[in-house]
Amino acid sequence: MSRKLFLFTLAITFIVLGQVASALGQIAQTKGIRVDPDNSRYTYRVQHSRDGIGKFYMGREIAHVMGHLGAGWLERSSREIEERPQTLIRALKLKAGDKVADIGVGTGYFARRISRIIGPKGTVYGVDIQQEMLDLLGRNLKNAGIKNVKGVLGTISNPNLPANTIDLVLMVDVYHEFSHPYEMIQNICNALKTGGRVAFVEYRMEDPKVPIKLLHKMSQLQVLKEASPHPLEWVETISVLPRQHIIIFKKTKLQSIAKTNTNEPRTP
Ligand SMILES: C[S@@+](CC[C@H](N)C(=O)[O-])C[C@H]1O[C@@H](n2cnc3c(N)ncnc32)[C@H](O)[C@@H]1O
Repeated sequence: MSRKLFLFTLAITFIVLGQVASALGQIAQTKGIRVDPDNSRYTYRVQHSRDGIGKFYMGREIAHVMGHLGAGWLERSSREIEERPQTLIRALKLKAGDKVADIGVGTGYFARRISRIIGPKGTVYGVDIQQEMLDLLGRNLKNAGIKNVKGVLGTISNPNLPANTIDLVLMVDVYHEFSHPYEMIQNICNALKTGGRVAFVEYRMEDPKVPIKLLHKMSQLQVLKEASPHPLEWVETISVLPRQHIIIFKKTKLQSIAKTNTNEPRTP
């Protein structure tokens, strides 16, 4: 093939590919679906639940973040019966001296209870993206005289934890509201020790009797699907709580190929 013919064929190929891509984009737009040009993992839909942000990951719509003005709900007395916090904490099999990250710590409902189990040699990193929640956490810790819980201000994509140090990452009723679930889990894996565990505690989507909005529930299958791109191996699903499942993974030796501290993505 002459050089001229080769260049001509190449140009035609690019033009055709460009037109196909633009046509696909138009089809998606007419269906009200938009792909994030900077991050094709996520799509946006015009028509979506009022409880969600219109952003979808692996077929699931992401829920709104619970605002700090609702913090009182996290400390409601009925939570003891609805969520059995002590049963959850026992199921986590924590040891004295463990380093635990409570991601989406809120007012510290779980962090305070965990602090007693891991003792003075252990640390709970209480991570939240709302400074107001961390202020409430600080006040609650001071009132209870707790010294082994550290508040950490995270971002929507990174919990800002030290690398390879954490024994257990706990996420109670929060994963479904991560606006960047892929990046969060990637950075969580970087913070875990090899063999360290992650516990997803989510309201059971499988059980229609659980009285929580759909977007605030997750099925076990969906959690497994969303964990699958990461160096995580499923260990067990513990069903001892009235409304939630505790889905536990451990970090495998295979390190995440992505770099730590991924740049802050653009907010939609
Ligand atoms: C429904 S509350 C649950 C609080 C706590 N886990 C509990 O069960 O009491 C969710 C919390 O997660 C926080 N959150 C949402 N996205 C987050 C993220 N990417 N990183 C850290 N915290 C996040 C919110 O600010 C909010 O305080």
